[in-house]
Amino acid sequence: MKTTLDFLNMKETRDKITMITAYDYPSAKQVEQAGADMILVGDSLGMVVLGYDSTIKVTIDDMLHHAKAASRGAPDTFIVVDMPFMSYHISTEETLSNARLLYQASGAQALKLEGATDKTLQAIKALTDAGIPVVAHIGLTPQSVNVLGGFKVQGKDVESAKRLIKDATRLEEAGAIAVVLEGIPKRLSEEITQTIHIPTIGIGAGIHCDGQVLVYHDIIQYGADTFPKFVKNYASVDQPIKEGLKQFVSEVKSSQFPTDTHSYHSEQLEAYFEHKGEME
Ligand code: KIV
Repeated sequence: MKTTLDFLNMKETRDKITMITAYDYPSAKQVEQAGADMILVGDSLGMVVLGYDSTIKVTIDDMLHHAKAASRGAPDTFIVVDMPFMSYHISTEETLSNARLLYQASGAQALKLEGATDKTLQAIKALTDAGIPVVAHIGLTPQSVNVLGGFKVQGKDVESAKRLIKDATRLEEAGAIAVVLEGIPKRLSEEITQTIHIPTIGIGAGIHCDGQVLVYHDIIQYGADTFPKFVKNYASVDQPIKEGLKQFVSEVKSSQFPTDTHSYHSEQLEAYFEHKGEME
């Protein structure tokens, strides 16, 4: 399994870091087999697995349930788990108690927190002091979607770009081991990547980041028909799944399934029932 030091070295040597989300045992197993450097049990599970329209309803219990399953599927991969909405904003005590639950019980190697407010920086410092590695996340931060006014690209003007560069520096100073840059112009992510010494992992942030992350369901086109501009579909499993399920329904209705080869046999019972009338 790679470590936080390996990720720092990968930035130095310009060896790109790959991160893919996974939310359960089989997807984590597949991601590990694909050779990804990191798995993110993202709170995006609220949208792609639980059917919410944002990540805001996701709870600590949801994250824990999915993180435990993912870590059973990928025992040799560095796993990062999202701290969900409002789980690190109320007090340092509550942040530490939620983090302990997620980190200790899930078997993850790091937690991820969105934003760079004073409160978040304080939380990152407290977690790092407690020995929990933290991945930061700035730019389009989905937990703040209603403050941002929707899923919109951030840092497009000079003022907000300067603010994000400063945020990235403060996150590094607070102890973050890496920063996810989501939904920002590629020129800005290039600048941030050159400015800080910890790896940047981009999603919708262009080519210059030290690594890239995408959502599992987006990579394989599973469960949705439309995708944001920054997504590339590398496979399309939705159609074959739908066709397989339809075929099952149709074959059961027409008594084509199960056939003899899908059934268990007992010669003794077959002989008994064949001659049952004669014996009585
Ligand atoms: O929750 C998630 O999947 C994320 C990625 C989009 C970076 O935070």
